[in-house]
Amino acid sequence: MNKPIVADNKPIPVDLKSGENYYFCACGKSASQPFCDGSHKGTDFTPIAFTAEENGKAYLCQCKQTGKLPFCDGSHAKIPADQVGKEFAFESKGNADAAPES
Ligand code: FES
Repeated sequence: MNKPIVADNKPIPVDLKSGENYYFCACGKSASQPFCDGSHKGTDFTPIAFTAEENGKAYLCQCKQTGKLPFCDGSHAKIPADQVGKEFAFESKGNADAAPES
């Protein structure tokens, strides 16, 4: 398994506490989304540790494609519903750092 599983194609709102440490599930296999439950064992994935910077609601990624881990960046909108529960990764653009065509 080298692609994460799409846990869902929408973010999940969670209440975070300032200064508290969390472990975000990067593999998509956790039954406790969006947090790690140890299900990544045997995969190439490890959880992403982060510390909440403020109290309050945050929308964490469940599609596992966000560029702003662990927070939703809207990438889920490009994932078809039939990919939920399956391994998925956007095709690499290969030349993402190239200057835009003029
Ligand atoms: S269960 Fe997914 S990273 Fe741990």
